[in-house]
Amino acid sequence: MTKPRILVTRAVFSEVLDHLGEYFEVQSNQADEIWSKAQLVERLHGKLGALTTGSERIDTELLAASPMLQICANMAVGFNNFDLDAMTELGVLGTNTPDVLTQTTADFGFALLLAAARRVTEGEHYLRAGEWRRWRYDMFAGAEVHGSTLGILGMGRIGQAIARRGAMGFEMQVIYHNRSRLAPDVEAHSCARYVGKEELLRSADHLVLVLPYSQQSHHAIGAAELAMMKSTATLVNIARGGIVDDLALADALGHGRLAAAGLDVFEGEPTVHPELLALKNVVLTPHIASATIPTRKAMAMLAAENLIGFLLLGQPVSPLNPQVLGSPQQVQRKGRATGTPAG
Ligand code: DGY
Repeated sequence: MTKPRILVTRAVFSEVLDHLGEYFEVQSNQADEIWSKAQLVERLHGKLGALTTGSERIDTELLAASPMLQICANMAVGFNNFDLDAMTELGVLGTNTPDVLTQTTADFGFALLLAAARRVTEGEHYLRAGEWRRWRYDMFAGAEVHGSTLGILGMGRIGQAIARRGAMGFEMQVIYHNRSRLAPDVEAHSCARYVGKEELLRSADHLVLVLPYSQQSHHAIGAAELAMMKSTATLVNIARGGIVDDLALADALGHGRLAAAGLDVFEGEPTVHPELLALKNVVLTPHIASATIPTRKAMAMLAAENLIGFLLLGQPVSPLNPQVLGSPQQVQRKGRATGTPAG
């Protein structure tokens, strides 16, 4: 029996390809070329599923040009590269990789917070440049982390994991704001107190952003919000570029209206605004919050399990639009793939 054909859009661990190869005929991209949309559509021809990453935009145009495609399994918890409404309308399932990266990403949020607040990279650059000649009482004196107030904007799994680190590891008072308040037991487990957005901005000594990107969260932190923050505060963005107005942030950091920032994601990444690159009081990393080998393997394996579960058994592990399962549009796509006209 011929195996269903799938596409893996970017380079991935070889054991993940081997695992997929047990069930599918796999076209991979181990050279890790960045394909144009036309190249991606060409490679999706005849494919029933795709293992995608945040780099590929999955929209109406692509889906309409790929009539046999039934699932895009994103190797990321974020899925702002998916037009999920279009996917649902056209009968294509989207899946993501929740849970497996929660703790690793929370660790990194804290790494950025500590590095920015305690001026770790600034001190390192100074040392490496050979400028360290003597001790001084206020040399690279930063902000206190333990015992301070930690603010979290977006209180999903990663926000909650960061809250617990702050409360239990650093004896911080943790406050959060979210679209909806957590259930009392979840709130208690997170050791966090719900506040309005303005109180969060005004009270936090360190503010970590962990909310998903959407039209509603675009520039959730802009000039007006930055103006409400303490001038001694640290801002950390491990969520998505576009949630922060990067130019307004650079202006606040450059003029001493905000002490420091740690950024793992950027508007228009991998390009970073030169205004941010020029500043010393910002720690910049290339979207690596979930990047440990065990976590990235777990993410890739979960994406693979979504492809296997859905295409072979009709049971994806972590569907984003489960209403697609069994929908007429999806049945039609299946029919095209098997050569059995639907209905
Ligand atoms: C995610 O999982 O969304 C991370 O940002 C990695 O892309």
